[in-house]
Amino acid sequence: MPNQIKIFNKLESFNKTIEVTSDKSLSIRAVLLASQAIGVSTISNLLESEDVLNTVKSLKKLGINCKKIGNKYKIHGYGLNGFEIKKKTTIDAGNSGTLGRLILGLLVKSEKTVKIIGDKSLSKRDFSRVTEPLKKFGTNIKSKKNSLPIEILGTDFLRPINYFETRGSAQCKSAIMLAALNTPGTTIIKAKKSRNHTELLFKYLKLPIKLKSNKDFDFIEVTGLKQFNAFNYLVPGDISSSAFFIVLTALSKNSKIRIKNVNINKSRTGIITILKKMNCKISLKNKKIYKGEETSDILVESSKNIKAFSCPSSLNSSAIDEFLAIFLIAAKAKGISSFKNLGELNKKESPRLNIAVRFLKNIGIKVERQKNDIKIFGNPNLKVNKNIHIKNYLKDHRVFMMACIAALSFGGKWKINDKDSINTSFPIFIKILKKLGAKIN
Ligand code: S3P
Repeated sequence: MPNQIKIFNKLESFNKTIEVTSDKSLSIRAVLLASQAIGVSTISNLLESEDVLNTVKSLKKLGINCKKIGNKYKIHGYGLNGFEIKKKTTIDAGNSGTLGRLILGLLVKSEKTVKIIGDKSLSKRDFSRVTEPLKKFGTNIKSKKNSLPIEILGTDFLRPINYFETRGSAQCKSAIMLAALNTPGTTIIKAKKSRNHTELLFKYLKLPIKLKSNKDFDFIEVTGLKQFNAFNYLVPGDISSSAFFIVLTALSKNSKIRIKNVNINKSRTGIITILKKMNCKISLKNKKIYKGEETSDILVESSKNIKAFSCPSSLNSSAIDEFLAIFLIAAKAKGISSFKNLGELNKKESPRLNIAVRFLKNIGIKVERQKNDIKIFGNPNLKVNKNIHIKNYLKDHRVFMMACIAALSFGGKWKINDKDSINTSFPIFIKILKKLGAKIN
């Protein structure tokens, strides 16, 4: 069957240095903000995955000149709301929630109606979480349900809003921050903690932003209508892509890996905090700060005595895209690990909490679930001795990658459908697995 891979062998030990592809969140934000700057911005090391290339394509449709020269993307911005929009423009956000939601924030002042569509998975996801607050700015938004397709027509009479973000969603927070750029006056946001890349980029671009925070919330004020100049940005590696190799190494015998130049912004490193508590050997070397973002090499060694962990929900947001990988570590731990309030996991590219519970049970792990809390009964001697076929998961890239890591770590004879899903975030995932010695057909 095309697009299906087979893994029939566990991975032997390895000792390698790898580079994962660039950070998806930063790639999308850098390109979107460049479209609002004055002049030609240069983005280097942009992630060339479907989600990011769809962002570039969408901006081109909105009249922004984007060109790839050598390995750099040149984005020609004409300032805030400097779009030239043709009648009946449709933007296809593909699989990307980040693109679909953030671009709505940029379109609050659009002079023509823009329709946003997405693939089957994105069309199932809730957009009211961004359209409801965006409507309060005064912009016109139409959708039949709370999901795509959505039509947006901007207004010249935008007004700033007070917004309380309660889910820990960086997409919601960022969509409102982008809308605030085009809005006169000061938009005030109280947001449950989530990744802060948009805030750091606003600061680097010297946009009028005030930031305060306490343990649980960030308080953000953005004053609109300040033009800013084009910029250069070099995108570092993605910790969400690294996660699969961190876990694979921890679960493999006598192995070591160095993952070079990864973004280790504290709002993203929940996986490192959690896995260290579970006795995994992880260290960060060669730390640097780049335009407010912290980067480093990540070194991981095999872990012999993985232990269970009760994960506090305060770590959920900083590990939100990594839980599928973290659950594999919990499956091999001594003891019972618990994870709480993971409702947001079911709001991703696929219902990941439901899928993870089914997946873990299928590989012989006992799981107890109460609503959005789960307990994973780890088995340090876990070995899979059966045939497993992974299919019908809405082509969620992270489910595909989790299944590959489980197959290479626990054994069994696996068939995994929809290999192309990795193109949304990490097109060279399988190539790197093969470099580590994985046998994949
Ligand atoms: C992202 C935010 C998170 C994350 C997604 C990328 C971003 O989503 O899951 O993969 O770039 O802002 P939510 O904002 O829905 O939590």
